[in-house]
Amino acid sequence: MDVFEAIRERRSIRSFRPDPIPEQHVQKILEAACLAPSAGNCQPWEFVLVRHPERKRALADAALGQEFIAEAPLVIVVCANVSRSAWRYGERGKKLYCIQDTAAAVQNILLAAHALGYGACWVGAFLDEEVARVINAPENVRPVAIIPIGKPAERPARPRRLPLSQVCHEEHF
Ligand SMILES: Cc1cc2nc3c(=O)[nH]c(=O)nc-3n(C[C@H](O)[C@H](O)[C@H](O)COP(=O)(O)O)c2cc1C
Repeated sequence: MDVFEAIRERRSIRSFRPDPIPEQHVQKILEAACLAPSAGNCQPWEFVLVRHPERKRALADAALGQEFIAEAPLVIVVCANVSRSAWRYGERGKKLYCIQDTAAAVQNILLAAHALGYGACWVGAFLDEEVARVINAPENVRPVAIIPIGKPAERPARPRRLPLSQVCHEEHF
C-alpha cells in the first residue's frame, strides 16, 4: 500500500473484532512510531502496551466511558517524556515539542496499523491523571493519546473535510 492510499483510506475505527494482533505486527507498528520526526531527534515518546482486560476497562473509564477502548485486543497509550525534550529545549520542549513529536508518532501508528489491515482510533478525550495512574506513569511522563487497535468490525464512511480553498492561503491570510 503506498503512502497516499494509506492516508486516504485510513479511518477512525471504534468497533473491533477480538482476534489478537501477532507480535511481529505489534513490533512493526511500534517501529513505524519510532521513525517519526522529533525536535533535535529527542524522541520523547514512550509507549505502554495494554492487553489486560481490567486495565483496558480502566482506560475506557478514564476516557469518559469510551467503551470501544476495552473492546480492542491491544491498546497503546502514547506518552510524552517531558523531561527528555525539556532537557534540550527548556520551556518550548516541555510545552510544544514533546507534544508535537508524540503526535507525529501517533499518526505513524495509525497509518502503519491501517497498512497492516487493522483499525485504530486516536483517543484524546480522557482524564490525564487517571490515565497516568492506570499505567503507573512517572512524574515526567504525560499521556498524550490512547490508541485502541484491532481488526475492524465496521467500515465507516469517510468523514467530510473542509475544502482546501477554506484552509489554504497564498502567502498570507
Ligand atoms: C487530538 C485528537 C483527539 C481525538 N479524540 C478522540 C476521542 O476521544 N474519541 C474518539 O472517538 N475519536 C477521537 N479522535 C478521532 C477524531 O474524531 C477523528 O480523527 C475525526 O473525526 C476524523 O475522522 P477520521 O479519523 O476517520 O478521518 C481524536 C482525534 C484527534 C486528532
